[in-house]
Amino acid sequence: MIIISPSVLAADFSKLGDEVKKVQNAGAQYIHLDVMDGVFVPNISFGPPVISSLRKVTDIIFDVHLMIIEPERYIKDYVDAGADIITFHYESCKDPEAVIDLIRSYGVKASMSIKPATPPEAVYPLISKLDMVLVMTVEPGFGGQKLIPETIDKVRSIRRYADKNGLQIDIEVDGGITPENSGNAISAGANVIVAGSAVFRSENPAKAISDIINTK
Ligand code: DX5
Ligand code: ZN
Repeated sequence: MIIISPSVLAADFSKLGDEVKKVQNAGAQYIHLDVMDGVFVPNISFGPPVISSLRKVTDIIFDVHLMIIEPERYIKDYVDAGADIITFHYESCKDPEAVIDLIRSYGVKASMSIKPATPPEAVYPLISKLDMVLVMTVEPGFGGQKLIPETIDKVRSIRRYADKNGLQIDIEVDGGITPENSGNAISAGANVIVAGSAVFRSENPAKAISDIINTK
């Protein structure tokens, strides 16, 4: 099954609760919450208070993407805010395994992301401990960018490695996904698809979601 996780970065922040309900009614199973600290990425978004406010108005799965340095400092805050899945960046910390253990210690799903320049091999030593791998298909920091085609090969490599080792793992792609390119990502092995602009900026989010899933 393909899961769609619309990124709220492309939503209208003045009515975030309604925006989340809108995409949930349109068929989204997750909501993707992009947390940026202005250090790991050159942009700042929002933190735990926004997420815990949203938690009060929806039961959708919170797919929290931390683009922050030393994520271990804040994992508990995001768990308390209502995260169901926490993704941190391989490039953002000294000891990724310890971050995975910390996330799992709270009973939350652990996911690790790699930036476009990080090779898929970085994930392999840790993959058996992960619930999900997020392959960035753009440079993290901003919504509305164009997908970097070479990143899809990394999805294929990671899916192949997981299959070869009998590991069931979710692979999420994030950045520049549209109904035109989602098919490539899905056939490479991605099963969780982030889409910000393509869903929130659409006149018809339900159609956008079904077009992303049911690619030609
Ligand atoms: C980029 C974020 C993405 C982004 C996706 O740093 O991690 O989640 O908001 O937005 P679109 O789909 O518009 O590229
Ligand atoms: Zn993201």
